[in-house]
Amino acid sequence: MNTIDFTTIDLSKEAPVTEPDRQYYFIAKAREYVQKQSEELGRALTFCVTTFGCQMNARDSEKLSGILEQIGYVEETDEEKADFVIYNTCTVRENANQRVYGRLGQLNRVKKQNPHMMIGLCGCMMQEPEVVEKLKKSYRFVDLIFGTHNIFKFAELITTRMESKRMVIDIWKDTDKIVEDLPSERKYSFKSGVNIMFGCNNFCSYCIVPYVRGRERSRNPEDIIREIENLVADGVVEVMLLGQNVNSYGKTLKEPMSFAQLLQEIEKIEGLKRIRFMTSHPKDLSDELIEVMRTSKKICKHLHLPIQSGSTRILEKMNRRYTKEHYLELVDKIRAAVPDISLTTDIIVGFPGETEEDFLETMDVVKKVRYDSAFTFIYSKRTGTPAAVMEDQIPEEVVKDRFDRLLKEVQSISSEVCSVYTDTIQEVLVETVNDHDPSLMTGRMSNNLLVHFPGDKELIGKIVPVKLKECKGFYYIGERVPATE
Ligand code: 5AD
Ligand code: SF4
Repeated sequence: MNTIDFTTIDLSKEAPVTEPDRQYYFIAKAREYVQKQSEELGRALTFCVTTFGCQMNARDSEKLSGILEQIGYVEETDEEKADFVIYNTCTVRENANQRVYGRLGQLNRVKKQNPHMMIGLCGCMMQEPEVVEKLKKSYRFVDLIFGTHNIFKFAELITTRMESKRMVIDIWKDTDKIVEDLPSERKYSFKSGVNIMFGCNNFCSYCIVPYVRGRERSRNPEDIIREIENLVADGVVEVMLLGQNVNSYGKTLKEPMSFAQLLQEIEKIEGLKRIRFMTSHPKDLSDELIEVMRTSKKICKHLHLPIQSGSTRILEKMNRRYTKEHYLELVDKIRAAVPDISLTTDIIVGFPGETEEDFLETMDVVKKVRYDSAFTFIYSKRTGTPAAVMEDQIPEEVVKDRFDRLLKEVQSISSEVCSVYTDTIQEVLVETVNDHDPSLMTGRMSNNLLVHFPGDKELIGKIVPVKLKECKGFYYIGERVPATE
């Protein structure tokens, strides 16, 4: 897509009605405004995208950056200096919302000194009507608000804002539309997230995602394969397939296809070296998928399998549709098929009605599975979800105490589990120069663990063998060894 010449688009005509042509038209139009403003100021206009939340949002932010760059903005990492600031928000837990309001307060002060600054807000939080009401009332300095379903319209919305000089708000309740072939930036040259599906139909009772990301819909396999082939041609060696529940991929397609089948097709792409995916729902993890993982040469040895709670009683109230026993059996099956797989999970503490016994069931699963790592969350009440109106919300001090005990257990197990690779040689995809010590490079193993080792930045994007010398809890210090082949 990046080869389109926007200068050839005839802006004297009406905007096309079909996508993505309509957006190409608006990119061309916004470019003219940006160019004009930039000539007046005598410098390039800049943008800064801030991402809150998950990998799905991170990928969406790359799309925002791609469009902004095509429009003629140049990236600026210091948000206070940028001409266009956009927050791609998250609302999975209440504290994510609070952070956005806090940061907006700060931005308001900056905008007072720099009145032509434009502020945009998009993402999950904007799908909540109360949020938009609050913004309309108390945050009038915001220029542009849109949600998760119409991110593809970004160029059109920017143009509308540039022409109207008023706050532009465009939120869709849901969509069945997937617009392909829009510009996208990539944070890394050698790895990329790839959306394979959008939305979620699971309605876990605590979770706001199905309300803000809409119904589940899968991209066509041909579009996914084509995107990955183009990425590989552009130097990408690792892809992360993204979806709220990748295990139910393909169910909504005209010609249904399973996630395992999709993986097999992706495996065939020449030049692609590693495949990751997230997130898997235990209820939909099939034997077919386990078999594909067992035989694949490219699928990484890492599975993120959120348990949420170890208590079958709580799992039922969470509408997770599996039991503790079922989950543990699944783990056994996966480990039997892929013995050195790294398992990670998400756990919520303090779901309404959770007793000490329920909590101990969670601790039991943690001790039995021995996760490589676990993301632990304090239950956050999300208005509109069934759990928000459940009786028996747990007092804060009880939750905090359980959370601390869980975290301690998780961390102690994970540092033991991680250290088992000491003195082994692992293939590592070199990602960055180490943040703290520029003589070190940071790379990622197939099992998702990081290793820092002396090396040169020429190695970035390459997969090299590294000997793991010392485990530092959650990462290793290593040293390069010559390739064996
Ligand atoms: N409170 C706390 N954690 C939550 N998650 C989702 N909704 C909530 C909530 N209301 C967690 C789940 C999910 C992860 C992405 O966020 O563990 O897997
Ligand atoms: Fe939320 Fe459950 Fe869907 Fe995950 S599977 S996004 S936790 S509703």
